[in-house]
Formats: sequence, structure tokens, C-alpha cells
Amino acid sequence: MLDFHAHVLPGADHGSDGLRTSLRQLKLAEQAGIDVIIATTHFYPQSDEFGSFCRKRQLAYEELLDKYQGPIRILAGAEVHMCVGLDHLEGLEALCVPGTRVMLCELPFRGLPGGMTETFERLMDGGIVPVLAHVDRYDPTVINNLFGMGLLGQLNAEPLSRRFHRRRLLPWIDGGSIVALGSDIHGTEIGYSQYLKAVDFLGPRAGTIEARTRELLRDVL
Ligand SMILES: [Fe+2]
Repeated sequence: MLDFHAHVLPGADHGSDGLRTSLRQLKLAEQAGIDVIIATTHFYPQSDEFGSFCRKRQLAYEELLDKYQGPIRILAGAEVHMCVGLDHLEGLEALCVPGTRVMLCELPFRGLPGGMTETFERLMDGGIVPVLAHVDRYDPTVINNLFGMGLLGQLNAEPLSRRFHRRRLLPWIDGGSIVALGSDIHGTEIGYSQYLKAVDFLGPRAGTIEARTRELLRDVL
């Protein structure tokens, strides 16, 4: 199985405070049957300097790969907090899943600012494939509008692991807009328990979503 959204690089963001935590996270992922993790380190364009973000992420990635002996393939991506004009950032490809043009994008929580849909349009015109992170968290009307523009989405395991309201997410899956499932793991407390519950609830749909993810990442998987 594939985890498209995870914070597991040591010290790269608040998902892991260091190597011990990261190795524990990977052990939990192994036990859950995960074989590919996209390590989506938070990137906040408003406060992070792009070059130092990339260097810090690379160092954390190398530190982890140096010590991790297990079977999981880890790719160092990013969870990009969206801002208007992001498309002007030079070297934007470094925020995509390596070897692809697929970018995990986190929407602002207080609605879409003016100019955001145009930013997405320009990103897509430039060949970037934005995948909206944890679309379950936002106003469904906003998300439906973005899906209508051709944007794709990722679901977190957490809402799918809960008994109530999770069925409301199924039309997005069945409509083809959801292309990835993520643990959004931070720390080790929850681990992959929600992910496994989500997969159990989804049944064959989990395989459908994973097939879409592997198709998106076909150049590197
Ligand atoms: Fe996240």
C-alpha cells in the first residue's frame, strides 16, 4: 500500500522530532503493509525560504535513508501551503514528488482568497498536477468547484476511520476526483491504525484509489 501524505523526515517539520521518531513511524508503516511513502514535509511559502527548505529537507532525507534498513521506498515531496502567485516560484518542481510534476497542495483554512483559482490554472497550464491535501477538511462546495476545474484530491485516513459522516466522502471517490489516500502521520501516537480502518471501510475502493496514485506516479514507481 502507498501512503501519499506523511510527515516522517527527521526534524524537517513538526511531524518527527528526530531520527528515533522517524524510524518508529516507518516501523509502524511496515507493520501496516505500506511499501511506498511520500514524505510530504510542510512548505509555507509565506515564511519558509525556498532554498533553505530544500536543503533542510534533503539533509533530513539523507539522515533517514542512511539509518533506515527496511523495505519501504521513501520519496521526499512536500505539502505546499497554497498562496496566490505560487506559480511564479522559480524551481517549483522541487516541491513535486521527485521525478514527477505531482504536487500536494494544502488549501488555506479560511476560504479561498481571490486569485487562487487563477494560480491553480496557471500551475496546471505549466504542467503541474496539483493534488489537494485532505479535501475532507474543507467546505465541500469549495472543493466541488475545484474538482470541477479538473483539480484532484487526496483524502486523509482519519475521517474514513470514523463511523459517522464518512459515507459523504464516497461520491468524490466514485466520481474519480480522489487519487490518493494519506495517513498524514505526525509523531507515533496514532500510527497507521486509522489508515488500516480506512482501508477496511473502503474495501475495493482502496485498491481503486491506489491504482490512481500509481498511475499518477507511474514515472517513478
Ligand atoms: Fe500534512
